[in-house]
Amino acid sequence: MLDRRVLMNLRGLLTPDPARTWVVDRIPDAALALEEGRVAWLGRAADLPAAWAEAPRVDGGGAWASPGFVDPHTHLLFGGDRSGEFNRRLQGASYQEIASGGGGIRETVRATRLATVEELVASGAPRLWAFRERGVVHLECKTGYGLDLEAESRLAAAYAELKRRGWSLDVTLLPAHDLAPEFGGDAEANTRAVAEVWLPELVRRHPGLARFCDVFVETGVFSVDQGRRIFEAGRRLGLSPRVHADELSWTGGAELAAELGAASADHLMFCSEAGMRAMAAAAVVPVLLPGTTLFLGMRDWAPARKLIEAGCQVALATDFNPGSCPCTDPLTILRLGCLQLRMTFEEAFAAMTLHAARSLGHGDLGHLHPGARAEVLLWDVDEPLELVYWVGEPFRPRFMPNGITERLKPQMTQVAAEEK
Ligand code: NIG
Ligand code: FE
Repeated sequence: MLDRRVLMNLRGLLTPDPARTWVVDRIPDAALALEEGRVAWLGRAADLPAAWAEAPRVDGGGAWASPGFVDPHTHLLFGGDRSGEFNRRLQGASYQEIASGGGGIRETVRATRLATVEELVASGAPRLWAFRERGVVHLECKTGYGLDLEAESRLAAAYAELKRRGWSLDVTLLPAHDLAPEFGGDAEANTRAVAEVWLPELVRRHPGLARFCDVFVETGVFSVDQGRRIFEAGRRLGLSPRVHADELSWTGGAELAAELGAASADHLMFCSEAGMRAMAAAAVVPVLLPGTTLFLGMRDWAPARKLIEAGCQVALATDFNPGSCPCTDPLTILRLGCLQLRMTFEEAFAAMTLHAARSLGHGDLGHLHPGARAEVLLWDVDEPLELVYWVGEPFRPRFMPNGITERLKPQMTQVAAEEK
């Protein structure tokens, strides 16, 4: 027997249209027909095809339905936190000053190297629950706070365990997140270690786990040429590039992403116009991270409007990490997308659903058209724009059964038992 259900009693349904880049469908009095955990039909309830007349009903409770959010850029796993550094920044120190004094990413690396796989998993799980209760159903997660083979391997093992527990994740290897302290600033030697030893060994130890690799291409970290060599090594191992590009200064990261046909170029606060045109031509997804610009107290918001006008399918993400954006909230990112990046509500919504999913190669996430995975959020609002308009309101979606909630049921039982 096929599992068929119809989600009824919806005030409306909001979904990007995968066939039309920036179009977001808004269907009042909607219904959604689901078969085997996938969308089979969407439309007005009054138009439900007769073939669905007998299928079991699920009551939407008068909510607005939307696809779950996808977060295409997080640094989910790390040890420690950086609240001390945050306080120093509040007193005037800059992010770069702290980093060049051995703090910043390096501070997190010291804490992460002390963590066991079990400790990393134990700290990651509540972060994933925090994302989930805010409506994020799939995340990209990076290694990168190990900066040596063994610690990077423990991060990969922890991601493998979280995936085994049912979390929907894509793993990106980022052993080139910063210059490792052992190389004493020798970026060339560090590049060779990453390209020739660490990436091949991480893929050998964790076969089939990672789909992407990433490099922090930045002044004082890895150059464009060093990034290119690391990405080419990753490609030979089956990893497609995602680039930390033009985040704190212009280095040509966007141009490199275009040259490599990368899956994404991320940050882009200092992206050049030539880089924008090159990314559009190469279909690289620019992933914008306005939470980071906010948290670093910068004024250089990524050029979302210019990227859209250049023809790019812009995505939004949190950049969740302990130093530049400790934020698990997709609505905060949507609000910054609208208010600081000057995106319309529909553009920001498509950017954190459809385009985010596409940057990860998932055509069946981020929308609710036929074939999509039934990752459905139910929002108790009169009008979806309220999610952005009530700017400090901590809206939480309800989840349509049969999606992520079902997959995580064993864990939920365990959590409930531990709470008793
Ligand atoms: O995306 N740019 C590199 N990585 C992070 C920051 C990491 C940190 O500060 O711990 C980012 O902003
Ligand atoms: Fe990042």
